[in-house]
Amino acid sequence: MEKLLTSILLLLMTVGPACAQQGLKDALGKYFLVGVALNTYQSDGKDPRATQIVRQHFNSIVAENCFKGEALQPEEGKFDFSSADRLIDYARSNHLTVIGHCLVWHSQAPRWMFTDRNGQPVGRKVLISRLRRHVRTVVTHFKGKVHGWDVVNEAIEDDGSFRKSPYYNIIGPEFIDIAFEEAHKADPKVELYYNDYSMSMPGKRAAVCRLVRHLKAKGLRIDAVGFQSHNGLNYPDLHEYETSMDSVAATGVKVMVTELDMNILPNPWNFGGAGIEQNYQYDKVMNPYADGLPDSVSTRVNSRWMDFFRIYYRHRAQISRVTLWGLTDGSSWLNDWPIKGRTNYGLLFDRNYQPKPCVADIIRLFSK
Ligand code: G3I
Repeated sequence: MEKLLTSILLLLMTVGPACAQQGLKDALGKYFLVGVALNTYQSDGKDPRATQIVRQHFNSIVAENCFKGEALQPEEGKFDFSSADRLIDYARSNHLTVIGHCLVWHSQAPRWMFTDRNGQPVGRKVLISRLRRHVRTVVTHFKGKVHGWDVVNEAIEDDGSFRKSPYYNIIGPEFIDIAFEEAHKADPKVELYYNDYSMSMPGKRAAVCRLVRHLKAKGLRIDAVGFQSHNGLNYPDLHEYETSMDSVAATGVKVMVTELDMNILPNPWNFGGAGIEQNYQYDKVMNPYADGLPDSVSTRVNSRWMDFFRIYYRHRAQISRVTLWGLTDGSSWLNDWPIKGRTNYGLLFDRNYQPKPCVADIIRLFSK
């Protein structure tokens, strides 16, 4: 009996630390890629504590900003891949799969993309040529180094109508087809995605599924739809969120959770119905946890994270990636949007680089 106890103790002593070191990627990686968006400070390898978390918990990364149009082609015909190439090197050193974000987006597009030298809107032919050149050059540059691309980002409104972006207004909805066609021509092996937020909205859900069917009917490659998932304590409606996953999966493509985070602060636009212009008057009310998170709220936050990850567990066969939109609460864009300088708590690791309690619960959920 004593011998048996000793061997069990020895086993626990050896296995125990390994379990304690088990990361999200070990438990969730059986089903889908587990990713995180990095800022350039992190992807330049300047934050060793960040790299330690990345190595333990993630097998994929995406650039929060340095793969966007304004960064890669700041002047027409002049490409700057320096920061993006350092991210590729960082990924290679840390055995991480790279996702490209994003080729065509109305925001953070190159400043010159939509206007001529007199500042007037360019014509359809010019913009198509500029769009093709950007997509072709960027995808070619990263051929064999990027697993998949957010080809078009946020082209559809919550009600299902097309966003009246300069791409839409000048080219028409065909800009989407052209972007997917050009990306596939540049790298026939790379995965191609459409990416958007508020995917739980029925109007957007229907329009995105229509878009996927349209692209497939034209023989264009599309592998997945990205559900950005900038979630909150009280949104999205979880039933609608799941319904959208089922609807997108039914079109024959995978579901990706591409920019997962959770805003836990009051939003100015629905704060007592007051408009955003009032937020400067309510900054204390709009920034209630500047000095830390009450236990009651922390418990609510961890529970809400489990709401989302139980959904991802149920839909694991439909999902091919879950990516967090940032590593630690301190590096989240949510601290500055929609109001600059707030203290949000939107991610899985806190400002001290420590995993929140839900991380262990998530690992347990996917390890069962
Ligand atoms: O690089 C400049 C820097 O030179 C300058 O000193 C500084 C002054 O504020 O701004 C810096 O640019 C900022 C950029 O992030 C890089 O840090 C921009 O101001 C800032 O607006 C930009 O915010 C990014 C935002 O996209 C822009 O829309 C966020 O970091 C990024 O998390 C966010 O990510 C988007 C996804 O790409 C698409 N889905 C929505 C998501 C949230 O908006």
